Amino acid sequence: MKRLTTLLLMAAVTLLCVAKKSDWVRIKNGDLWYDTAGNVVQAHGAGFLQVGDTWYMIGEDRSRSWNPDVNMYSSKDLKTWKFEGKIIENGVTHEELGRSRFIERPKLMYCKNTGKYVVWCHWEGRNYGASEAGVFVADKVTGPYRFHAGERPLGIKSRDCNVFVDDDGTAWFISTIEENQHLGFFRLADDYLSAVECTQLFKRQAREAPAIVKVDGTYYMLSSACTGWDPNQCKLSWSKSMTDGWSRLENIGDKIAYDTQAASILTIKGTKKTTYLYVGDRWMDPDLPRSKTIIFPISFSDGQCDFTYRDEFEINFKTGEWREVK
Ligand code: DGJ
Repeated sequence: MKRLTTLLLMAAVTLLCVAKKSDWVRIKNGDLWYDTAGNVVQAHGAGFLQVGDTWYMIGEDRSRSWNPDVNMYSSKDLKTWKFEGKIIENGVTHEELGRSRFIERPKLMYCKNTGKYVVWCHWEGRNYGASEAGVFVADKVTGPYRFHAGERPLGIKSRDCNVFVDDDGTAWFISTIEENQHLGFFRLADDYLSAVECTQLFKRQAREAPAIVKVDGTYYMLSSACTGWDPNQCKLSWSKSMTDGWSRLENIGDKIAYDTQAASILTIKGTKKTTYLYVGDRWMDPDLPRSKTIIFPISFSDGQCDFTYRDEFEINFKTGEWREVK
């Protein structure tokens, strides 16, 4: 009897340890990701939307290098990715897509006012001459997504892009405008389907790959210079307002952003802590199809960003904490 009790106790302790341990997810950088069906995850220039405890990721399918479709994946731990399908497909979603038009940097938002899911992206043509933005809309997060518009927002030439939804639901499309000279901060209409106003910022500073996050009432933006697929210095700017008062761009991290270019910044809100995760593209590693998605925790305070690369780290999605791998 005593022996049985000891055995049961040992089993209970083991179970407890396993349960506790499984709250921590280890993320390792530098390798290709595989989805739950065993296929390479193709979601470059990724955009994210959190719905409950599920993260939806959309991005460029670069498996044929050029003319990417847009793939969607879902995950609860940013490590186990289920392929949800091609939400935007060449020749299917729009007849010109894959022929005279291609997509880069698709980003996903949920519009509370309409109950619709909205994708904004770079909608491009030969030699990056079109310089347009594409808008797609769906009733369900996984689609089907319908083409809504492909044009220069407010008539302004627009390339690399991202989106940002503020606490009050105001949505922004931020893009590299007028032949890569400035950044355009486009405020979107209440239904997120068009731009209503553009504020030109970072004039003649040639920034691209913008990614914005709001931390304790302050907006922080990471961005890169324009060097094609080659990595360059990531810079930080911060402001108390989206359209005014942005600080001077400051270098963060090493000279090539640890061989990445910003795609998104995720906010992991847990019961104990909020952790911010940088998501960047390690392009051409060694070619476009094998470009990697890199994730590591970053932090912001007092106009500063601790942007330190971690090859591996562990994160607890319940508590929001992260820790080094020893
Ligand atoms: C850098 C951009 O950030 C990418 O999205 C892509 O447009 C490449 N340039 C193309 O060279």
